[in-house]
Amino acid sequence: MTKGPIGVFDSGYGGLTVLKEITAKLPQYDYIYLGDNARAPYGSRSFETIYHYTLQCVEWFFKQGCPLVILACNTASAKALRSIQQINLPQIDPSKRVLGVIRPTSEIIGQFTHTKKVGVLGTAGTVQSLSYPLEIEKFFPEIEVFQQACPMWVPLVENNEYNSEGADYFIKKYIQQILSQSGGIDTLLLACTHYPLLINKIKSFIPKNISLLSQGEIVANSLADYLLRHLQIADNCAKNSQSVFFTTDATEDFDQKATIFYGKPVQSTHLAL
Ligand code: DGL
Repeated sequence: MTKGPIGVFDSGYGGLTVLKEITAKLPQYDYIYLGDNARAPYGSRSFETIYHYTLQCVEWFFKQGCPLVILACNTASAKALRSIQQINLPQIDPSKRVLGVIRPTSEIIGQFTHTKKVGVLGTAGTVQSLSYPLEIEKFFPEIEVFQQACPMWVPLVENNEYNSEGADYFIKKYIQQILSQSGGIDTLLLACTHYPLLINKIKSFIPKNISLLSQGEIVANSLADYLLRHLQIADNCAKNSQSVFFTTDATEDFDQKATIFYGKPVQSTHLAL
């Protein structure tokens, strides 16, 4: 088998916050990032649509030679990952792997909460799927999970309004809604890869004793561990420290915004799906 890059997928820019941490942790590997910006946001779309879009993108990654694809998007992980793993992968190529962001986060969330009450902030799709309560229960049955959909947060981030005064209204609104579900919540999970851009504003609306978790580092650590445990997969991943970027929408727009999420200049190529 020829070696190929690790695929990193998101509906748009959010996955770049994850790729940033992955490349910091595992700089030796090659990466190929795809943002399906032309069809984003995924957050409010149906199961069928998200599954169809995500599968199409995963098939594209495989055509680029990726042995492993990370769905760096909670919504795609919640709505498409299981079907892709169980139905499509065995047919496409059983030697390939597709991993998501929900399991690695759920596996370690117990390390952060003392009150055993965790708040999950995500898109409507992620919240409705109940993926977090179900997955966290498998690892930490004693933890009570409270969820809040934050449908306005992705548009604020995507439209460069994440630092604006106008953003405060919607940040405060969803934070108040989740905290009013239980007085005991001591950990809030940013279960959407777009939300790290809002972290400073969110911090200013929560009490100091509540910890705020974003997923980039968690996913990067989990991937490093996975590659150590799956040497065959690791061996199929190319190691030239190169990253390339694709978007299904306009590249000029992508490159400009992507830099904010990735923290470094990005030059993308357009992909017509
Ligand atoms: N970044 C995606 C996530 O982690 C959601 C963005 C969208 O709605 O497309 O859920």
